[in-house]
Amino acid sequence: MALQLGDTVPDFEANTTAGHLRFHDWLGSSWGVLFSHPKDFTPVCTTELGDVARLKPEFDKRDVKVVGLSVDPLSDHEAWAGDIAETQGHALNFPLAADPDRAIADLYGMIHPNASDTVTVRSVFVIGPDKKLKLTITYPASTGRNFAELLRVIDSLQLTAKHSVATPVNWVDGDDVIIMPSVTDEQAKLKFPSGWKTLKPYLRVVAQPRE
Ligand code: BEZ
Repeated sequence: MALQLGDTVPDFEANTTAGHLRFHDWLGSSWGVLFSHPKDFTPVCTTELGDVARLKPEFDKRDVKVVGLSVDPLSDHEAWAGDIAETQGHALNFPLAADPDRAIADLYGMIHPNASDTVTVRSVFVIGPDKKLKLTITYPASTGRNFAELLRVIDSLQLTAKHSVATPVNWVDGDDVIIMPSVTDEQAKLKFPSGWKTLKPYLRVVAQPRE
């Protein structure tokens, strides 16, 4: 069965451009993003990997470790890394895992046979410090992902984890948020002493909590 939100993500070992890793140990107590690439030496993937390298400080700021994966051997990844640096202006600064036998791709359901038997779709898995799956997004091979959007949803996930708030439509960092329906008004008084706006009993809006 496909991985579902709330599942503990499967552990694996992989050879990567940054050395061998055991996934759960490597994550430690950090958040994680595992994202797949259909194939090495492909144009869309080249742009994506350069952009994630550019955004690496933003992932670091949020204590998120990022690892890419492609079903090609490490020697190909290493040769491709030169092209990524040359064409995107940002060299790989996070691990790109080799999965030549597709063992990890199968474990995570990254191969969708009706799309392709041989290469992965563009999967994204966001993993919490508890190793549970918090978010998954699937794009077709032909559509490059928006990693600014990924950072936005990570901000939302981390706010929910820390402050029991949800984020409304089109929320961006700094906008008001919503008190989770599971939080009673009594509990909310303790969590949000500056108060909130009740538009409906189920729709309570509060300023975004800071640290
Ligand atoms: C790409 O990464 O550019 C790509 C890979 C597979 C199909 C289409 C595009």
